Amino acid sequence: MQENLKKIQNQALQEIDQCKDLKSLQDIEVKYLGRKSELTELMHKLKDLSPEEKKVIGPLSNEVKTYIIKKIETTRGALEAQEIEKQLNSELFDITAPGTKYDLGHIHPLSQIQYEVEKIFSDMGFAVMDGPEVESEYYNFEGLNIPGDHPARDMQDTFFVKDKMSDRHGRLVLRTHTSPVQVRTMEKYGAPLRVIVPGRVFRYEATDASHDTTFYQVEGLLIDKNISLAHLKGVMAEFLSRLFGKEVKVRFRPGYFPFVEPGIELDFSCLICNEKGCSVCKRTGWVEFMGAGMVHPNVLKSGGIDPKEYQGWAFGFGLTRLVMMRYGIDDIRLLQSGDLRFLQQF
Ligand code: PHE
Repeated sequence: MQENLKKIQNQALQEIDQCKDLKSLQDIEVKYLGRKSELTELMHKLKDLSPEEKKVIGPLSNEVKTYIIKKIETTRGALEAQEIEKQLNSELFDITAPGTKYDLGHIHPLSQIQYEVEKIFSDMGFAVMDGPEVESEYYNFEGLNIPGDHPARDMQDTFFVKDKMSDRHGRLVLRTHTSPVQVRTMEKYGAPLRVIVPGRVFRYEATDASHDTTFYQVEGLLIDKNISLAHLKGVMAEFLSRLFGKEVKVRFRPGYFPFVEPGIELDFSCLICNEKGCSVCKRTGWVEFMGAGMVHPNVLKSGGIDPKEYQGWAFGFGLTRLVMMRYGIDDIRLLQSGDLRFLQQF
């Protein structure tokens, strides 16, 4: 038996040494240590041996078994390392070869400027608000001092939605300006207030290079005690100077909007020609920028604010026009075209 054990050990050793891959090592393991292996069978028979024989054969068979287990384990480790290296070598790639270039998306020019505008106004203490694009007639018109029969409704050609909301709120419309959010914000937060509202607006309009049915505005609203248009002039000069990165002047002209009194139009000094006159400013040195004015007492009342206690100003400018001016885009329709040749320039 002793000899038999030695023979098993030597044979196993030889086979393991010659083994070249993990699969055959597994087979060897089964062959020499498995349930049906010679060694296992031999160990089963130990119980039939005489006590003297047991003393010798017992420990010896254990030694042989441990020896084979250890040998298999070290060989397995070495074979595994070999296999990993083989794999790495076969997958080796040329790190100097040029890779595949994937196009990265980027923010639309309109959103880029919108974020800049939001940042500047936030830094000046304004909160950024939002409102629905499908609006009630009430918020879009009546609440802003534009009654149903008022000729001012013709100033903004409207897309009406079929559904009627209620008697008080009238039909649904695609909002023609961001001004309805003035009343919504006053109702929700009361006075004092300092907000801007960037958003998408819609007008029933024939499209051409400077008109589109869909464009973007930014509304501004400031309500507090002892507020005057001088504050508006200061805020807008500061805002435009920060946006364009150089000093910009602003001027007021009278203008009419039913929801402000007095109403004004605000122009800023032409940055292209430094007020000398060019094609951008139509030779005037000034660029028409936005409508504004002191919030009409009726609008304050719509928002639940007492006009005797508080006053304020509001403004609305075209974000789309600002983008066109900033980048010298001469056709408004490009901005919503989704044309990548256009968009990839920004
Ligand atoms: N809502 C006006 C427009 O769309 C702009 C405006 C806003 C004018 C606020 C005055 C005050 O033309």
